[in-house]
Order: sequence, then structure tokens, then C-alpha cells
Amino acid sequence: SDRIMLGPLVAAIDQGTSSTRFLVFNAKTAELLSHHQVEIKQSFPKEGWVEEDPKEILHSVYECMERTCEKMTQLNIDISNIKAIGVTNQRETTLIWDKMTGEPLYNAIVWLDLRTQSTVERLISKTPGRNKNHLKHKTGLPISTYFSAVKLRWLLDNVPEVREAVQSDRAMFGTVDSWLIWSLTGGKSGGVHCTDVTNASRTMLFNIHTMDWDPELCQYFDIPMEILPKVRSSSEIYGLMKSGSLTGVPISGCLGDQSAALVGQMCFQDGQAKNTYGTGCFLLRNTGLKPVMSEHGLLTTVAYKLGRDKPACYALEGSVAIAGAVVQWLKDNLGIVQSSTEIENLAATVGTSYGCYFVPAFSGLYAPYWEPSARGLLLCRVPPRCELVGLCLFLPQILDAMNQDSGIPLTQLQVDGGMTSNRLLMQLQADILCIPVVKPSMPETTALGAAMAAGAAEGVSVWSLRPEDLSAVTSEKFEPQINPEESEFRYARWKKAVQKAMNWET
Ligand code: G3P
Repeated sequence: SDRIMLGPLVAAIDQGTSSTRFLVFNAKTAELLSHHQVEIKQSFPKEGWVEEDPKEILHSVYECMERTCEKMTQLNIDISNIKAIGVTNQRETTLIWDKMTGEPLYNAIVWLDLRTQSTVERLISKTPGRNKNHLKHKTGLPISTYFSAVKLRWLLDNVPEVREAVQSDRAMFGTVDSWLIWSLTGGKSGGVHCTDVTNASRTMLFNIHTMDWDPELCQYFDIPMEILPKVRSSSEIYGLMKSGSLTGVPISGCLGDQSAALVGQMCFQDGQAKNTYGTGCFLLRNTGLKPVMSEHGLLTTVAYKLGRDKPACYALEGSVAIAGAVVQWLKDNLGIVQSSTEIENLAATVGTSYGCYFVPAFSGLYAPYWEPSARGLLLCRVPPRCELVGLCLFLPQILDAMNQDSGIPLTQLQVDGGMTSNRLLMQLQADILCIPVVKPSMPETTALGAAMAAGAAEGVSVWSLRPEDLSAVTSEKFEPQINPEESEFRYARWKKAVQKAMNWET
């Protein structure tokens, strides 16, 4: 039968906390042609611990790739039109493997994991003035359980196999991007051990000014530098696929998922911002060529570097650990709803939140507090059906902090991610922030960003990064509808609830 002629296509691997996806886009229009998704299991071996199986993660990537290729073939689309593959991933999640056998030496320690809480407390107590921002001038980050360095330290201290592998020069460390790129480009028979600047900037070992691993930081955490991957830009050919239906296709884009969403939302201008609702939610504001150091509890992070000779752009980030994870919790742990759509319908029937406040601090609190000992908290009089509001309420604080740090108030927020299909949530979000919320019609912005970086790489060059060239990109806008006083009132109450969640022990 006749093959459909579409011109060049670019694919993306989106390896998130809860699932893996493989998606194929038309490089001329940004239209999504086909995709496949596989859920990822998380295990919780002890209180506060969160692990995933690196092999399962890798297999899920292969499965998504193969299934998507089958679907494309059924649609009569020639998969040889796929000119490049981009990788985007859950950030900070820490892996270590044996480069001779290709076997992981321990499970992946997921970003949400709190096992390093006592290590973090000890490190902070040793700094002058017990200052969690002691390393911020180099890393842009507070000392926290969130970032990779402390997780890697834990692995070196607690897993004999890891120590042995380091001693015999067989250990490789990486975040999920490194593990995938190394494995896909050949693994133990010549895989490429690399990461990109955005992922590197989440390890706490990377200097965001020099754009390289920092010997002093490595010494501080006592991390042997030879196990670190080589740091590359977010858009260049790292290597070629070594097996499967896409053998020979270059992997030429790599971005942490939040950076990828910023690119996919085309927030290339200083001052543009996006919020992605995934397992957590992450608001990033592009600050252009300069790293802005937050005075209000936000992170300074590398936004992207789209080519070896291109400059790096930075972002301010407000990270919220728990967003979509609440939906999971309502479904799987409490069993009070069957699906996420049911939540929207239920919430719509109550009309008001009855003064209910829900602080989903299941993994401690991230921005702007960085308080690992906070716990989830529900304050209410009537049976709660208003968890949604809790999710929206973190953002005014983050937006406030961001507006203060950058001096210019944000005039609208671009959003994406699974939860944005909940229109009630988006309306609440606009009401609470008092600015319009803009949602693209194609929700897979994270994957789109990684595909753009891969397609624009030198030597691939099938994708223009100019927003106006992409005809498939359209959006929907939610205007704020409640009055500012009401939203002020809710916000003030919310801040009290957060204080309670942090000080539950006293
Ligand atoms: O920093 C963690 C973040 O990258 C995870 O994103 O979408 O898996 O919640 P997500």
C-alpha cells in the first residue's frame, strides 16, 4: 500500500516518575503523530523511601519505542522518516551501574526519596550559621534531600557493591538520561556516558557558572569524579541507537523534563514562564543569559543550552513535590475515586471548598520552604471534596517569590501536563493566581521540547525552533473570575495551614 509522505519526523523518549512515553512528531508542524505509554512501578521499602527498577525503566523505553513503531507502520507512516530522538526525564533520580556487566548496582533512588534527611541535617548543621544555602552560590540549590549528590553519597556509604565497583573502576553514576543514553547507544559494548547541562544542574555537583562538574563540590560530598558522566549541551548528537527498529537513528537532544517543557512551551524569552503538572509540579521562569539567585526560596537552574556553541540560558524554579501524586493517592490509597475525571466532576458539584485546606506535604515541603519534616495536613469541617484547591495554592507563593526575585510581575502563566485536562483545576488556578492561565491544545509539551532539541541539533537540522513556524501549536486561555479580595483571603488562610504542616510536632 502507499506510504504517507510526511517529511522529516522527530521522536522523543519522555521518562517521567510515574510513566514512560515515546512520541513521534512532524518536524514541520509539531503535530503529534503517534505515541505509546507504559506505567512505571514505584516501591517504598521504608518510610519516606522511593525506588524504581532501572531495568524496568529501560525496558519500558524499548517497549514504548517498538509499540509506537508498530502503530506508525499500521498508519502507513514510514518509520525511516524518524531522523532523530530526544531524551527527556524525571530529574535528580540517581542511578549507579557496573560498566562491565551493564547491571545496575542498586535500584534508582527517586527524587522524592527522603532517606537522606539525616545526612542533609548533618551537612547543614556543619555549615557556618546552619545555612542551607551554603552551596547556592555555585549550584543555585539549597542543601536538600531532593538533589542527586546526597543520594549518591548514601549509595557509596551503604551499598558494598557500589563501593567495590568504584574501587575497581567499574562504576558509572548517572541520572535517568545518562542511564538511558548509555544503554541505548550500546551499553557495556561502547555506550556513551553523558548527561546534559540541565540534568547536571540538579545534582549539586555542577557549577552553574563554569558549566562543569565542580571539584570542590565533589570533594564536599566526597564523590569520586571519575564516575561522573561527561557534560554536553542539550542539543547535539551524543550517539546512535544500537538496537531495535530505530537502529542507527541519532540521539541528539537531552533535557530534564522541566527544561524540556519550557522549550516545548516556546518560553525562549527572558520573563516567560510555564508550570507543568506531573507527579509534582514545577514552575520555571526563563531569566535569559543570567543566573538570578533567589532571595525567596526558589532554585536557580540551567534552563537549556541548545547547541555546543550556543549560550546557556537559566531559569528560576519553584518546585512542588506533590501534584498528580495526590490524584494517585485519592485513587490508590484512599480509594475514594476511580479516575481523575471523577475528581473534576465531584469538585464541580460542591461549588465551594467550605473553608477546607489540604496541604499535600507527603514528601516534606519543597519551594519556598525546603522543610523535609513537614507532613500532609487536612483541615476541614465537612467531608473534604476540595483537594484540588490545595494543589493550586502552592503556586501563589511561588509566583510571589518569583515576581520579587525578578522584579517584574508575570502577566500570564503557560501550563501543561496531565492534570491540565482538568478544566476546573485550571479555572481555580487562574482565580487563585489572578492572572490568565494558558494551556496548549497539545498537552505533551515536555516531549515536544525534547524532540525540538533533537531535531534542531547540528548534523540533524530538520526542526526550526521558531514558534511561528509550527502550525499545530494552539492554546486555550482561562481568565481569573473571582475577586482579588476573596483570593487574598484564601491565600492568607492557606499560609497558616502550611505553617501547621511544618510545625506539626510542636
Ligand atoms: O524534579 C523532578 C521532576 O523532574 C519530575 O517530573 O513530571 O515526573 O513529576 P515529573
